[in-house]
Amino acid sequence: MAQKTDLVIENIPKHIAVIMDGNGRWAKKQGKLRIFGHENGVKAVRDTVEACAEIGVEYLTLYAFSTENWNRPKFEINALMTLLVSTINKETKTLMDNNIRLATIGDTDSLPSKCKKELLEAIEKTKNNSRMTLVLALSYSSKWEITQAITKIAEQVKKGQLATEQITEDTINQYLATAGIPDPELLIRTSGEHRISNFLLWQIAYSELYFTEKLWPDFRREDLYEAIVSFQQRERRFGKTSEQISA
Ligand code: FPP
Repeated sequence: MAQKTDLVIENIPKHIAVIMDGNGRWAKKQGKLRIFGHENGVKAVRDTVEACAEIGVEYLTLYAFSTENWNRPKFEINALMTLLVSTINKETKTLMDNNIRLATIGDTDSLPSKCKKELLEAIEKTKNNSRMTLVLALSYSSKWEITQAITKIAEQVKKGQLATEQITEDTINQYLATAGIPDPELLIRTSGEHRISNFLLWQIAYSELYFTEKLWPDFRREDLYEAIVSFQQRERRFGKTSEQISA
């Protein structure tokens, strides 16, 4: 198991994104309800956030609730929203103590009003914190994000405020929910599934992907270090040749 001392501190990814998967299976293995897995997933969230801040990660994006998750049983959705509200409520002080800013990406208007209110308060309270930004992807999906970006760009063109020739990759970046946030260098998915599940499709064009068998509630800082060590051993070529990179 990797340790903090195994990390090359000059090559820590600026932005790490995580697909936290396996809460349901973790609970089922113990004969418990799925929500028990989500509750224990919060411990993994806390440890990962703390470890990322400690080693100098600037942005950590967690996929907490996808657009498709609205199709889950009502009971599970309600339990997840309640857990979200209570976690934000409990952890805002920890975010303040650790100088961590909270942000969200996703269709937050579709969240229950109590959840949205709690989130907005925590975002406002932590807005001047500068050590790390914790981005929660809530009611998020890449296809939703890209669709709303295209709609907004089309409106600008229709109004004559933007010419089609002016549309560049940067224009698109500006209209995505992640505007102003650098692309993740590392994407981690837990639970042994090898899928992207509609998460940051545009932004991960050149991200390194890391998959682990660990179920999310069992994920701890040592697992994060392991993922970063793997990232640090890879040669990132961005379409160039190995010789060009080493020159
Ligand atoms: C995926 O596991 C997990 C989720 C859909 C929810 C993640 C939520 C938390 C970890 C708790 C709250 C988070 C924050 C940021 C406060 P799954 O249910 O799909 O598991 P399965 O694939 O085993 O069924």
